[in-house]
Amino acid sequence: MKKIQLDDCTINVIDEGEGKPILFVHGFPLDHRMWREQRTSFSSNYRVIIPDLRGFGKSGVTEGTVSMAQFADDLNKILTELKVYEPVVYCGLSMGGYIAWEFARRYPERLSGLIVCDSKALPDSDDTRQTRQHSATELRENGTDNVVFAMMPKMFGMTTRAENKKLVEEFRQMMLDANPEGMAAGQLGMADRADATTFLSDINVPTLLIGGEEDIISPVLEMQEISNKMPHAQFVEIPKAGHLAPLEKPVEVNDAIRKFIDQL
Ligand code: MLT
Repeated sequence: MKKIQLDDCTINVIDEGEGKPILFVHGFPLDHRMWREQRTSFSSNYRVIIPDLRGFGKSGVTEGTVSMAQFADDLNKILTELKVYEPVVYCGLSMGGYIAWEFARRYPERLSGLIVCDSKALPDSDDTRQTRQHSATELRENGTDNVVFAMMPKMFGMTTRAENKKLVEEFRQMMLDANPEGMAAGQLGMADRADATTFLSDINVPTLLIGGEEDIISPVLEMQEISNKMPHAQFVEIPKAGHLAPLEKPVEVNDAIRKFIDQL
C-alpha cells in the first residue's frame, strides 16, 4: 500500500504489477478490498491501481460534501503522483461509476477504455436525494449501524445472500467499520451528482458495462439503456449476481474484463 499526500488529505493506494494500467474505483461505502478478486487476477499482467477514495478505507477523511468531481480530481492527482502517463482502463463500480462519468468529462485524455459495473447515469430522484440527506444526518449523529442495516438487503443478489453468507457478513462488517463522516460526505456528493445521460454520447473510448442480473440498485435494463446511448459500448449481464457482481461472480466478471481489455 502506498500513501499519497493530496493538498488536504492522505490517500492509500495499491499499485501493483506491470503492464497497461487499470484503475479500479470502489463503490460506496467500501474500499480497495472490494476489488480483491480483480487485484489477484490482473496484477500478473497489468499494473493495477486501487485507491481508497477520500473518506473511505484507510484514506483521510474530509468533512462536508465530497462531490463526484472532487473524487475525479483526486484520481487524476493520484495518477500523476504515481507517474502514470499512459492512458488507463478505468473500472468503477456504482459510486465508482458515477465518478467515471466525471472523470471521462474532465480527463478524456487519461482514458484508453472505460468499464462501469452496476451503476447509473441518471441523477437521483427528489426522494432519493432526501433519503441521502437523512442518511448523512443519521451517520453524523449515530454512526453507521442504521444506515448499513438499511443498505444491506440491496448490496448482494438473492443468490449470494442464500449461498455465500460468509461473504455477506464480511462486507457488512466492512461497511459498519467505515468512517461515518466519510460516508456522510460521499452520500451528499452522490445526492448532488449531475445527470450524466446527456454526456454519454460524447464518450469516445471503448466502454464495457457490466451488470448483475439480480442487482436492484442499478437494474440491468438501466445499464442496457446506458450502453445504447454510448457510441462504443457493449453490455454484459452476469447471471446470479447482485450489486457487487465483481465479488459475487469474480470468474465471470474477470472473464468479461479480460476479453474487453484484450480487444483494446
Ligand atoms: C454504491 O454501491 O456505490 C452505492 O450503492 C451507490 C448509491 O448509493 O447510489
